[in-house]
Amino acid sequence: MSPGERLPSSRALVDRHRVSPVTVSRALGLLAAEGLVVTRPGSGAFAAPRAEAGGEPADLDWQAVTLGDRSVDASGVSWLLTPAPDGTATLSGGYLHPTLQPVRALATAAARAARRPDAWEMPRLGGVPELRAWFARTVGGGVSPADVLITSGGQQSLTTVLRALLPPGAPLLVESPTYLGVLAVARASGLHPVPVPVDAGGVRPDLLAEAFAMSGARAFYTQPAFHNPTGTVLAAERRERVLDAARAAGAFVVEDDYARYLGIEAPPPPLITQDTGGRVVHIASLTKATAPSLRVAAVIARGPVAERIRATQLVEEFFPARPLQETLLELVSSPGWPRHLRSVRAALRSRRDALLTAFARDLPELRIDRPAGGLHLWARLPDGVDDTALAEAALRAGVLVSAGRPFFPAEAPAPHLRISYATAASEAELAEGVRRLAAVLRS
Ligand SMILES: Cc1ncc(COP(=O)(O)O)c(C=O)c1O
Repeated sequence: MSPGERLPSSRALVDRHRVSPVTVSRALGLLAAEGLVVTRPGSGAFAAPRAEAGGEPADLDWQAVTLGDRSVDASGVSWLLTPAPDGTATLSGGYLHPTLQPVRALATAAARAARRPDAWEMPRLGGVPELRAWFARTVGGGVSPADVLITSGGQQSLTTVLRALLPPGAPLLVESPTYLGVLAVARASGLHPVPVPVDAGGVRPDLLAEAFAMSGARAFYTQPAFHNPTGTVLAAERRERVLDAARAAGAFVVEDDYARYLGIEAPPPPLITQDTGGRVVHIASLTKATAPSLRVAAVIARGPVAERIRATQLVEEFFPARPLQETLLELVSSPGWPRHLRSVRAALRSRRDALLTAFARDLPELRIDRPAGGLHLWARLPDGVDDTALAEAALRAGVLVSAGRPFFPAEAPAPHLRISYATAASEAELAEGVRRLAAVLRS
């Protein structure tokens, strides 16, 4: 159509294309968003003026000089968040497949939250009081609602907490391997992640104490329950020793409790319930058990550090959106919430077992421990395999997996893959993914 030409009426489009009025209105919305159509209320939709073609491209090279040598590396995070092409067996990603998410309950909770007359007012600072109280009760161990700060999801909590605790240039002890998103946050904040090895029982307390002594670090980031990527749970006899090591160094422990509700076996209580000295800063996120866009979480801390974190959040973002806080409160207070958690756990158990069976059949040469919860298997590849090249070849062959290397803060001691069992549409897709992966590894 020529610019300015009037589009047929909605009714004519409905007739011509044999689609519903809703589809026509969505299509027009998309065309308008793409700048191809302009709508004028009352007079209809018109073909938009064409963008100026040709001309010299703008010279933006000056920006490189102005921005200087600082850079933010989001490559690992964007690999995790970018959807795979259609037809790919998706064995990577950090969230439940939509069929496992409580989509209907979320819609109900959001509708109830949005209907409140004060839904769009500012929330009380610190968060909606009933939600703070829910987090305090759920974590237990003497945590009070006043210790709880409602935040905008786990990732934002990591940024806020690490910025509050440490100045740029400071070392941060992390498990090796660890969640690559925390490495991205630390590096973007000018911190230096220092690796402390984990084995089947979680972080090694002897090496943690050594790392504190050698680095002078004032904080240790850890996931004691269903560690991402290895799935390990910190062994009972190590919990006190980890706290002791931090106490001896005068350091904080940042406990990322991202997978509490994804336990195929019951997780131990949060480490913060064992801490009487305000040493543990606890991050409780719920996106993993619900949906990625329910971006509300909590940070629990006691003493001056709580004040520092609260102030950092206020300066960075004011407060998390109230309708989302209210939605989460509605969801966790609804009668269907415990049922949802039970069904997610059952589905994860079945998927984990199906994936392990597929590996035992098609790729017995990979060494994989059976995780007690979380979303992932951590597979040790045969020596000499390049995990990054393998993950890229696997994607070309139609299966998405994560290379192990980006999860290590420094050199990777051995090649690994992280394989997720929660992101595929079905157990059949998991099995097909392993079949494709085996074919790639063999070739
Ligand atoms: C260990 C860990 N912590 C935190 C996060 C952040 O998740 P969210 O911001 O959705 O709470 C993730 C997400 O992948 C994770 O795996």
